[in-house]
Amino acid sequence: MPDNHQPDRGLHLERSGNILIVILDNPPVNALGLRVRRGLLAALRQAQSEEQIHALLLLGSGKNFAAGADIREFNQPRQPPLLREVCDQIETCTKPVIAAIAGNALGGGLEVAMAAHYRLAVKGSRLGLPEVNLGLLPGAGGSQRSVRLIGAEAALDLMLSGRPLSAEQALELGMVDRLGLDARVDGLVYAHELLADRCGVRRSSELTTRLADSAAQQAAIDAARTKLPTQFRGLFSPALIIDCVAAACEQPFAAGCQFEAAQFQRCLASPQHRALLYAFQAERAAAKLPDTTGLAIAAFSQAGVIGGGTMGAGIAVVMLEADLQVTLLERDEQSLAAGLSRVEEFYRQRVSKKRLSATAAAARLAKLRGTTEYRDLATADLVVEAVYEDLAAKQAVFRQLDSHCKPGAILASNTSYLDIAAIAAVTNRPQAVIGLHFFSPAPVMRLLEIVVPPQAAAEVIASAVVLARRLGKVPVRTGICDGFIGNRIMSVYRRAAEAMLEDGASPYQIDTAVREFGFAMGPFQILDVAGGDIAWATRKRRAAQRDPQERYVQIADRLCEQGWFGQKSGRGWYRYEPGSNHGVQDPAVLEIVARERERAGVTPRPFSAEEIVRRYLAAMINEGANLLAEGIALRPLDVDVVLLAGYGFPRYRGGPLYYADKIGLARVLDDITTFAAEDPQFWRPSPLLIRLVEQGQTFASLNAE
Ligand code: 3HC
Ligand code: NAI
Repeated sequence: MPDNHQPDRGLHLERSGNILIVILDNPPVNALGLRVRRGLLAALRQAQSEEQIHALLLLGSGKNFAAGADIREFNQPRQPPLLREVCDQIETCTKPVIAAIAGNALGGGLEVAMAAHYRLAVKGSRLGLPEVNLGLLPGAGGSQRSVRLIGAEAALDLMLSGRPLSAEQALELGMVDRLGLDARVDGLVYAHELLADRCGVRRSSELTTRLADSAAQQAAIDAARTKLPTQFRGLFSPALIIDCVAAACEQPFAAGCQFEAAQFQRCLASPQHRALLYAFQAERAAAKLPDTTGLAIAAFSQAGVIGGGTMGAGIAVVMLEADLQVTLLERDEQSLAAGLSRVEEFYRQRVSKKRLSATAAAARLAKLRGTTEYRDLATADLVVEAVYEDLAAKQAVFRQLDSHCKPGAILASNTSYLDIAAIAAVTNRPQAVIGLHFFSPAPVMRLLEIVVPPQAAAEVIASAVVLARRLGKVPVRTGICDGFIGNRIMSVYRRAAEAMLEDGASPYQIDTAVREFGFAMGPFQILDVAGGDIAWATRKRRAAQRDPQERYVQIADRLCEQGWFGQKSGRGWYRYEPGSNHGVQDPAVLEIVARERERAGVTPRPFSAEEIVRRYLAAMINEGANLLAEGIALRPLDVDVVLLAGYGFPRYRGGPLYYADKIGLARVLDDITTFAAEDPQFWRPSPLLIRLVEQGQTFASLNAE
């Protein structure tokens, strides 16, 4: 029965016989902010002082046990009690403390559970130490307790990957003691059993079994260190996480904790933490559109996908993963069979890589059907078109959709560049037509641009945002222009890279410099992965509108004319052995580059890695500012999220506009002005950038508006 509901504590207390139940209750995610920490200490004091209480049961309310430290407190001075002290108090409590986890126990949330004496997890819950994703490490004893509970190898994996464990995995590793179906019911049963068996307290800090094999622990630590330069390139906190694990293996618990506290403090003060925290918050803010609150949100249960090629098949998978019924429509039976088999192949791979059980894959595929008839889309709540990038072809599809789909259905195009308004105009319901721009491979890439033509209804946009979250995507609203936010910025920094190429930098030097900055790939590598023919087709399409004054570097065209499209043709900017995606440098490419420089009358000059990166980023930042000024991107954070979630911008640098603020907008403008001296047509400083510099403002000031 309820004991004392204390909303000011962020938790409430109940009693069941001699067990005090502490229910974390701090919506939305039970973050362990100051009042929760105070509340937990008060609850512990009460349990210690009341003789009739024999044990404590920790539960979370809602969908989470606890999502960790309250990230909103990271920008403020830290206020005691720190979570570390709370965890120590939990562990030193003389009455058994049992944590029963349902939902997410992440970061500090799992640290609280690890400080408890016994742990139960409900099936479906997720237990993780994702601090690394925020540039941090567990700061409440988690690096020390996890090693004692599950050993160095598993603890390193948990902390370095940031990936949560399932309840079953946690049980197998020894992170939890048993599984349950209901945290409260099974937690109480467990607590009573422990009391009946007189189990007493069992402190994680005093466990020694895992540490006994010191050679195995050391081997795990050494193995993790060798991965630092590749898997964790450029990142600050992973090396410190490994140091903390080493401390856990070598030092007494208290000394290890002290070491951890010092490393946590270093992370907290690091620029990488601030950038990663910004990225986390920007992704959530991007999903909040100013004009969509309070609107009726469509319910989605059936989806249609038109075209079963690379994107259509991938989008069908995304929909199936979100438990939607999917109808895939192709132009003829043969193409339909090919499209359906692409989806089936995806699931075959998942099963063979043991990422999904055969039963689960079969259940997903049971929700997929194929057709060549538009009437089979009559009940769909949403249809995404992914046919060839051709306006007339897309318009023909939308005419069909308009005459067959039910009123209220959302009709979306996955076009990369085309004008959605021109597609919407052929229907009698332009208010229902938007762009949903998925990225390739659709099941993997997190970004989803929601392309909003002027006629789109606010309900449709709001519903698309909700759908995007359900699909596990990061939605960003974009207005209409050639390429929307992402591809438009990309075409500009790609041009900057091509100009450097013609002026003297090699493609390999450019790719290396860009990767060294932290991008997942350089621009020429990306072209080889995506297929040079796609960008070539876009260049040809735009040729008629190209300003004759514009510098046009033809080197990529020369490669395409030879049929060198990248990985798919075994040759592009790099050479690929059959069956390998690993590109090696190709002297023949360098010969073509040299010939083209000569033809263009360019005397090559040397480029430093620093200059390459400065030019690449200046192009990106300047075009980001243009998109803001034109209202295509709503806020600087939208530009940042697009580049982070869809274009491999290093997350620990926060995104191009965040980065621009950090290095100083005056410096960026200076660079652009300098570059403009040699190519004034390309390097035109954005009026918004000029205004911000003149007013001494930052892009961040526009996020706050
Ligand atoms: N503190 C404060 N607010 C948080 C939070 C946290 N730890 N985690 C999430 N939130 C907020 C979000 O910002 C969002 O706020 P908004 O509604 O104002 O935008 C709201 O909670 C809901 O979050 P999501 O939209 O992400 O909800 P989901 O249901 O999709 O996901 C989640 C829930 C899996 C818990 C996800 O929010 C998440 O991964 N959170 C971060 C977890 C994390 O990194 N924890 C470690 C923190 S660092 C730490 O614990 C240090 C310790 O070692 C000392
Ligand atoms: P694709 O060529 O792999 O697939 C197109 C599919 O559409 C083919 O299976 C074809 O049979 C089918 N199709 C053609 N006309 C049709 C019609 N009238 N009715 C039904 N089906 C029809 O093309 P891809 O790469 O999947 O691209 C599709 C769309 O997605 C394009 O608009 C493209 O710009 C966009 N896009 C592509 C990305 C990529 O990386 N490939 C990334 C993001 C968007």
